[in-house]
Amino acid sequence: MANIRFDGRVAIITGSGAGLGRAYALELAKRGAKVVINDLGGARDGTGAGHAAADSVVDEIKRAGGEAVANYDSVATVEGGAAIVKTAIDAFGRVDVLVNNAGILRDKTLVKMGEEEWDLVMSVHLRGAYCVTRPALEVMRAAGYGRILFTTSGAGLYGNFGQANYAAAKAGLIGFMNVVGIEGAKYDIKCNAIAPMAASRFTEDMLPPEIFAKLKPEFVVPIVVFLCSEENKDSGMIFNCGAGWYSRTAFVCAPGVAIGDAKRNIPAEEIRDSWEKIKSLEDAKPLGNIAETYAYIMPLLQ
Ligand code: NAI
Repeated sequence: MANIRFDGRVAIITGSGAGLGRAYALELAKRGAKVVINDLGGARDGTGAGHAAADSVVDEIKRAGGEAVANYDSVATVEGGAAIVKTAIDAFGRVDVLVNNAGILRDKTLVKMGEEEWDLVMSVHLRGAYCVTRPALEVMRAAGYGRILFTTSGAGLYGNFGQANYAAAKAGLIGFMNVVGIEGAKYDIKCNAIAPMAASRFTEDMLPPEIFAKLKPEFVVPIVVFLCSEENKDSGMIFNCGAGWYSRTAFVCAPGVAIGDAKRNIPAEEIRDSWEKIKSLEDAKPLGNIAETYAYIMPLLQ
């Protein structure tokens, strides 16, 4: 089998001045992609800004014989998102791949979480994905090709203490990803999400040092490369990945139970009596869009 290549392709990777984004950028560039290294260059909590992070990754790629250009805009503004896409167009003339990766943390338990912590985290992860994806999608649609990746998190999919803001934003990205996949389908635009687990400044104080040392970002890179490649034909999927473990995860719908005939009212006691069947996930499956839920309801409405 031929190697996965990105010759002639242009990739935007947000937040690629460090951590996971940097690792994706180095590999995509090695495989022939021209890469926009976007990074605001701030601290983990979203404070500050600078050019050093993005510049150092651009230098690294160029030294290895690849092509890259830096962009220092914040993903969290519409102007920033437009400027990131414009950087790709001005430097390389197209956008084939977008990895929404930029992120910050402001962890607090909900009772202590102020408006600023909520808004800032939502603005970088969720609004940021909107600000960059919308203009990128416009370019991809016109070209009839695109691969978009969102970065969700186990915290958003399954929950994590002290991360209500982050989890809400990361779960919101799944709804966003589903719709981009549906709207992009007829233009050969595939949109998926990953929930990575890797050593970076995000996780340095959350993981024991011996685990941190082994959980290399490089283990997340290969699934990102595949999902962003022309060879990937899947869309609307979520993948856990870390330390060499790759697993699909999904919002699923179980067959449940049809009570009554949709004509008589159903008392709460009948819900109680059917509770084991209602909450069972046996034979649950992911659905392609909201219309598929009607398949369960329509027989009751005949
Ligand atoms: P990181 O902190 O090393 O990288 C994030 C990068 O985003 C930084 O370089 C930062 O400067 C940049 N950034 C922050 N705000 C920005 C903005 N407004 N505009 C442009 N760039 C901005 O962290 P890491 O671990 O590489 O995280 C990458 C993504 O993976 C994040 O979305 C994070 O939520 C997600 N993630 C990471 C996990 C992990 O185990 N490391 C777990 C689950 C999700």
